[in-house]
Amino acid sequence: MMRVGLIGWRGMVGSVLMQRMQQEKDFDLIDPVFFTTSNPGGKGPNIGKDVPPLKDAKNIVELKAMDAIISCQGGDYTSEIYPQLRNSGWKGYWIDAASTLRMKEEAIIILDPVNKDVIKKGLASNVKTYVGGNCTVSLMLMAIGGLFDKGLVEWISPMTYQAASGAGARNMRELIQQMGAINGEVKSLLDDPASAILEIDKKVADFINSDRYPVEAWPVPLAGSLIPWIDVQLESGQSKEEWKAQVEANKILGSSANPIAIDGLCVRIGAMRCHSQALTIKMTKDIPLDEINDIIASHNQWVKVIPNDRELTMKALTPAAVTGTLNVPVGRMRKLTMGPQYLSAFTVGDQLLWGAAEPLRRMLRILIE
Ligand code: HSE
Repeated sequence: MMRVGLIGWRGMVGSVLMQRMQQEKDFDLIDPVFFTTSNPGGKGPNIGKDVPPLKDAKNIVELKAMDAIISCQGGDYTSEIYPQLRNSGWKGYWIDAASTLRMKEEAIIILDPVNKDVIKKGLASNVKTYVGGNCTVSLMLMAIGGLFDKGLVEWISPMTYQAASGAGARNMRELIQQMGAINGEVKSLLDDPASAILEIDKKVADFINSDRYPVEAWPVPLAGSLIPWIDVQLESGQSKEEWKAQVEANKILGSSANPIAIDGLCVRIGAMRCHSQALTIKMTKDIPLDEINDIIASHNQWVKVIPNDRELTMKALTPAAVTGTLNVPVGRMRKLTMGPQYLSAFTVGDQLLWGAAEPLRRMLRILIE
């Protein structure tokens, strides 16, 4: 059996990965070895079979004994350990959730329902480094992979509504604290049906802008507001999150030499773990909506086309409806008034599943196949 080292399995993405690996019985097919940065020699997690004591995640000799390593430990760990491990001559498979290696020549971005051909070609030519994509990029490709497959996309402008989980566990906690704090601030007025809404609103606005409002993880208030900037600022005027859309999507699709333009604005909103995106798509040709629906729906088993109907949309096309599932609904599809080649779409996906953990465990399955 393949010896697989797991690192960062206690963190948020790592925990989702562990849950999914247990659900899909992946551990039956591998020899798992758990690594730790804090507790070498400690007891491994309970996964329904015996595992050796935890090994030191910084011990290159121990790491070198693995056939494959899956890291959810984060970019700093990858930057420190990956070069040492490769320089030591290790030829195993490195499967990583962090963005550090994504755009490196030696790495393939993994999203097998979309780019299994690229992955297979990589394996055949001895590529050993496989990295999960940015969450919004992966979720967009899961949603409208069919249109890319058929060469129907001239360009896309994705406008995102990104959940707190993309910023980390602390940020999710603080979002909830912010929500609770706002409620606490006006609770007595809310409980009184005769109170004036403008008084409540004024108190909330004053509170959100006060130094009593909890902002430690977030740079500025999120609950009761939004943040139209994600990640660092680039010279192009894009945020780094916005820059990733085009470069990563084209790398995943294998079209970097002749890239499809993908650019829009990324916005953080107060959802928990589902990213949503409103897409404006310029198609390469005018084809009827029912054909577009079929092309999108038949691309993979997780995408679900939601008819452009008010009730169905509100029921199925929201973070609340999608959270914790692998479903990727796409709806609000219609031709825009700009012309018959302009298509709108709205899609939602769980940022921790398809956006982070799921492609990693599926890569492992491809290696075992
Ligand atoms: N960068 C993403 C976000 C998450 O901040 O939402 C990681 O893909």
